[in-house]
Amino acid sequence: MKKDRIFLSPPHMSGREMHYMKEALDSNWIAPVGPDIDRFEKELASYVGVNDGVAVQSGTAAIHLALSLLGVTKGDTVFCSTFTFIASANPILYLGAEPVFIDSELDTWNMSPFALKRALEIAKQEGNLPKAVIIVNIYGQSAKMDALQLICNFYGVPIIEDAAESLGATYKGKSSGTFGEFGIYSFNGNKIITTSGGGMLVSDNIASIQTARFLATQAKDPAPYYQHSVMGYNYRMSNLLASIGRSQLEQLDNRIETKRHIFRRYFHSLSDLPGVKFMPELENTRSSRWLSTLTIDETIAGVSAFQLLEALSRENIEARLAWKPLHKQPMFKRMRYYSHGHENNAEALFASGICLPSGTSLTEAEQDRVITCIKDVLNLGRKRRYFVMNKYGVLGQ
Ligand SMILES: Cc1ncc(COP(=O)(O)O)c(C=O)c1O
Repeated sequence: MKKDRIFLSPPHMSGREMHYMKEALDSNWIAPVGPDIDRFEKELASYVGVNDGVAVQSGTAAIHLALSLLGVTKGDTVFCSTFTFIASANPILYLGAEPVFIDSELDTWNMSPFALKRALEIAKQEGNLPKAVIIVNIYGQSAKMDALQLICNFYGVPIIEDAAESLGATYKGKSSGTFGEFGIYSFNGNKIITTSGGGMLVSDNIASIQTARFLATQAKDPAPYYQHSVMGYNYRMSNLLASIGRSQLEQLDNRIETKRHIFRRYFHSLSDLPGVKFMPELENTRSSRWLSTLTIDETIAGVSAFQLLEALSRENIEARLAWKPLHKQPMFKRMRYYSHGHENNAEALFASGICLPSGTSLTEAEQDRVITCIKDVLNLGRKRRYFVMNKYGVLGQ
């Protein structure tokens, strides 16, 4: 009999979602505006400690708005972490600009300050500094924001912090997503909290967020008829979805605890296996552990991340390989890329990284299924490796 499917990070409704939604339905505040949107924006801004936020239909829309507000246009360049999901970079293309990709460092898996500094130095020499740097906080772990901020400030280039995966994480006590000129969050179905689909753009610059709200609502001029002086977008979140978001936000602290607990259980069960290394957590940071992620050194484990993925899939367990770096995506093959010195860390992470089921509704019994499968596969891998080494006379030499 086929075992029940274990998903990577499914939506989890566990609080007062029905209560808030019913209120919204009863009061007929469905769309396009409504009190839940205002409250969700205020509550989230206050949670992360920024002055304002605008709720939109996706994290991608939030990045698009941030880039527009920074005046990114055709012919500009924007630097972006390479080890991320495509959504971090697509909005650069929407505006006719060109992305330049920056490698990761291994202690955070996020943007390497070395690579960024080199890229900015060269851009300055060429008289072509980027209009913005998009720094992604991957799998819930903050990038090394103080070093990255120092470099960006030196060159006078604003930061957009892509915190789609790191809502609730902190860096030296400060919330992930609040370091740059703008921060963005995602509430899509697999994120730590979800509105089914949605995102938020946040900033301490209240005037910029007001402009974002205006642009996200088709840029309607304040006139008694429909008048538009600039191009806008239809990007606002509906009141109904904001009502779900409010309830989800109430559970965020619990969610982080649960994600971290899931990580700890994986770590305690699997970290001793030869060739296995878990994603690190930088000192003075608190990752949300959005996805528990590890790397497998195939030469030691005798199994690759891809083989483990397939084995988990046969057990009806959904896992994912680590992000394929954007500079290796066919659509970006002509774009510039700066590595971390001689190493190409993002490529190495892609070759060896795997994300394990990390949903906050994951039961311990389900997690044990995942753990048992991984142990079995890696034990087999070790035996196979021993057999292969023995066969070719590597052992005993
Ligand atoms: C790093 C990163 N950036 C941006 C996004 C885009 O968010 P959304 O799916 O809400 O557009 C996502 C998630 O999908 C993401 O993981």
